[in-house]
Amino acid sequence: MNKQYNDKIIVAPMVRVCTLPFRLLAIDYGTDLVYTEETVDFKMLRSVKRENNALGTVDFIDKSDGTVFFRTCERERTKVIFQIGTSDAQRALKVGKMVEPYVAGLDVNMGCPKTFSLKGGMGAALLTQPDKVKSILSTLVQGLCIPVTCKIRLLKTLSETIELCKVIEKCGVSAIAIHGRTKEERPNHPNHNDMIREIAKALNIPVIANGGSKEIKCHEDIEKFRQETGASSVMIARAAMWNCSILRPEGPLPLDTVAEAYLRYCIDYDNPFTYSKYTIQNMLRDLQDTPRGKAFLETQTLQEICVMWGLDEYFKTQLAKQSESRNCMHFEHKS
Ligand code: FNR
Repeated sequence: MNKQYNDKIIVAPMVRVCTLPFRLLAIDYGTDLVYTEETVDFKMLRSVKRENNALGTVDFIDKSDGTVFFRTCERERTKVIFQIGTSDAQRALKVGKMVEPYVAGLDVNMGCPKTFSLKGGMGAALLTQPDKVKSILSTLVQGLCIPVTCKIRLLKTLSETIELCKVIEKCGVSAIAIHGRTKEERPNHPNHNDMIREIAKALNIPVIANGGSKEIKCHEDIEKFRQETGASSVMIARAAMWNCSILRPEGPLPLDTVAEAYLRYCIDYDNPFTYSKYTIQNMLRDLQDTPRGKAFLETQTLQEICVMWGLDEYFKTQLAKQSESRNCMHFEHKS
């Protein structure tokens, strides 16, 4: 049996947050596994793979405009789980094959309640389509060499949810992540830890409990949430986004230290400005109302943000290095 999902602390998939810089930060602070943001299968299928020697990464980029859909590096290979949005087994398998050499597992998003996902038959739309679920998950399990998982929300009743989970379990997945809310419930609704507990009892595969961030204020609360849900592992999203150093068993670090470390990775891996700003904004929370927070909101480039955290020199030096490396390769390529 695959032990990858037993007794683990896992950082949840988060759109715009869980790109390479944040994932490496989470690994530095001690996460066992970290999910990518959800990427819709169609995007990956129109991407090409490029070795990016200037950054030391492998990139999957849009053929037409160069947008990066997935950037990864060797350091995270044994800890990163790639999450896809899909409504089709064959498309999902093709994407799985593309990323398989670079990731530790593949996860299917079956919980996203956004209109965009539901209209495309993805995310939470799958919760009421057991045949589709079977086809996607069995195809992935049979066709890939890496562990396959999915992340669901609760259905209206416990028995319906357990029924769905048993269908999922039969497909041969390695674990199932359960966000303890229905698709109608919002993040401020209480998480149904009791329902996760009942589901964990009814299944033989590891259950990864999710949805507890509001009650997770320090590292020890992660274990408390695991015990309350009777789950094998815990997955945290917002608590890690607010201050990623909550993952450190040694204790948290000041937010400025965390933001600075995150920004260094944003520079090193050329993270899109809008994503970097969004993530820092979510770290600042109430601090956005302070004069410094307001100044932050005015920034329009990554360099401007970096100046605020004393990283102007680092920004310039790294950019110069990256550009030199690109020029060298261009020269080698030509000669
Ligand atoms: C999310 N969530 C999410 N879920 C998912 O399956 N794929 C995704 O790409 C995202 N994106 C995302 C972005 C952001 C900014 C947030 C806050 C959340 C949901 C997330 O993984 C998790 O299920 C919920 O946030 C509940 O867990 P917490 O926050 O209570 O630990």
